[in-house]
Amino acid sequence: MPVTLESVRFRYDPHGPDILSGVDLTIPDGQMIALVGPSGSGKTTLLQLIGGILKPTAGTIRNTTAPGDMRWVFQTPTLLARQSVRHNIDIAVVSCPWSRSERADRVEEMIRDVRLEDFADMPVNRLSGGQQQRVQIARALASKPPLVLADEPTGQLDHTTTGVVMDAIRAARDRGTTVVIVTHDMYVAGLCERVVTLEDGGVSGDRMTGGMTRDVTGNMAGEQTDGADHGQA
Ligand SMILES: Nc1ncnc2c1ncn2[C@@H]1O[C@H](COP(=O)(O)OP(=O)(O)O)[C@@H](O)[C@H]1O
Ligand SMILES: [Mg+2]
Repeated sequence: MPVTLESVRFRYDPHGPDILSGVDLTIPDGQMIALVGPSGSGKTTLLQLIGGILKPTAGTIRNTTAPGDMRWVFQTPTLLARQSVRHNIDIAVVSCPWSRSERADRVEEMIRDVRLEDFADMPVNRLSGGQQQRVQIARALASKPPLVLADEPTGQLDHTTTGVVMDAIRAARDRGTTVVIVTHDMYVAGLCERVVTLEDGGVSGDRMTGGMTRDVTGNMAGEQTDGADHGQA
């Protein structure tokens, strides 16, 4: 199990309220899991605890992935603003144990996967927010990491582009990458195999979906219709 949380409590301020007041969660290898819940319910906090950016106030967190092997997609893109799309993705694979041509091929593959071929040589600060988000996703997946932690990765994307990005994330999952996606988009959640709902400081829902069989390459007509019972952010 790459990630296990036991009775995790967390507060930012020692004199403030518990943001998380007892979370138990086990994420098996290779699972693609959505973390949903109302705005302010602690989704970003929980992701940062899983990734080791924050330390729990009480309880234990085990994450078998070395910090250097995890890849993040932050809510606000953190890219080298004046560098090209290609360069931003390229630096994610420099330390991969691949040949120079394998690395170059992988970068071009990622550029195609997120449909940024026409922007590959452009500095990222000239791209839209949604395009920058796609660069970030390409960068996160490029090294074929064992664990990807993504915070609202499709927050600035339209439905078509969301489908494109989710295809890329699912391809990573199919190769064995464990993926945790914080989202308030029920369509995105439905594409994950498991949906965990966070509410009132704890896990209020945890269900498997049929999501992994859904076809996202076609039109979006088959949107989530299973009466998702969890809150929206
Ligand atoms: N750095 C921080 N310092 C103090 N409180 C914070 C900080 N970050 C988030 N919070 C609070 O923690 C709660 C959960 O926030 P967050 O994890 O960002 O929720 P979500 O991602 O579900 O919207 C909110 O009440 C938020 O105001
Ligand atoms: Mg958040």
